[in-house]
Amino acid sequence: MKGIVFTEFLDLVEDKFGLEMLDNIINASDLESQGVYTSVGTYKFSEMLQLLQHLSANTGISIDDLLLVYAEHFFGVLEDSYPGLLKTYKDPIEMLSSIENHIHVEVRKIYPDAELPTFEVLEKTDNRLIMIYKSSRAMHHFGLGLMNKTFEHFNSTASIVLEKIKEDGTEVKFIINKN
Ligand code: HEM
Repeated sequence: MKGIVFTEFLDLVEDKFGLEMLDNIINASDLESQGVYTSVGTYKFSEMLQLLQHLSANTGISIDDLLLVYAEHFFGVLEDSYPGLLKTYKDPIEMLSSIENHIHVEVRKIYPDAELPTFEVLEKTDNRLIMIYKSSRAMHHFGLGLMNKTFEHFNSTASIVLEKIKEDGTEVKFIINKN
């Protein structure tokens, strides 16, 4: 997992829960990196999982809800860091259906070692998109947060339903209806 995902996460934890919580979750985790991350480095996903598990245990907020809120913050980082990539699109359905064949393809050119999910489009119309998310990391709620913000970016809203295909969340169907 790329360092930018860690640095932005730790910034958000400090911002929302304070420095003491940040120290707590780092100290409670067994981190090869010792909790020191640079935005261009690459670190084990298991470090992110431990940080999320301890934050969840200390706050009572589920990992899914933490990932959702974190993704909504991370979308702002993407807007600031990759304005050109987002400007290619005029419509949220167009953008979301292009993650697999364009957006994450560009990401892989920048970070060859990025750990990305796959999105398979099953159905696409002007107002509706059905996609299957697959990833061993089961970060579907991170995807949900990015999708919510994608609609907001285009001054639009949608109702998005998740249906788990695999109980462990490594395969999830997203049913997206633009309002
Ligand atoms: C992960 C870039 C848009 C879904 C990532 C990562 C990067 C990235 C750098 C982390 C990879 C790693 O840590 O190794 C971008 C950029 C985007 C974009 C630059 C747009 C300009 C989106 C959108 C979605 C999405 C709109 C909506 C569903 C995900 C998910 C992950 C991810 C779910 C977590 C990894 C996983 O589930 O396996 N993306 N992304 N991305 N991205 Fe994107």
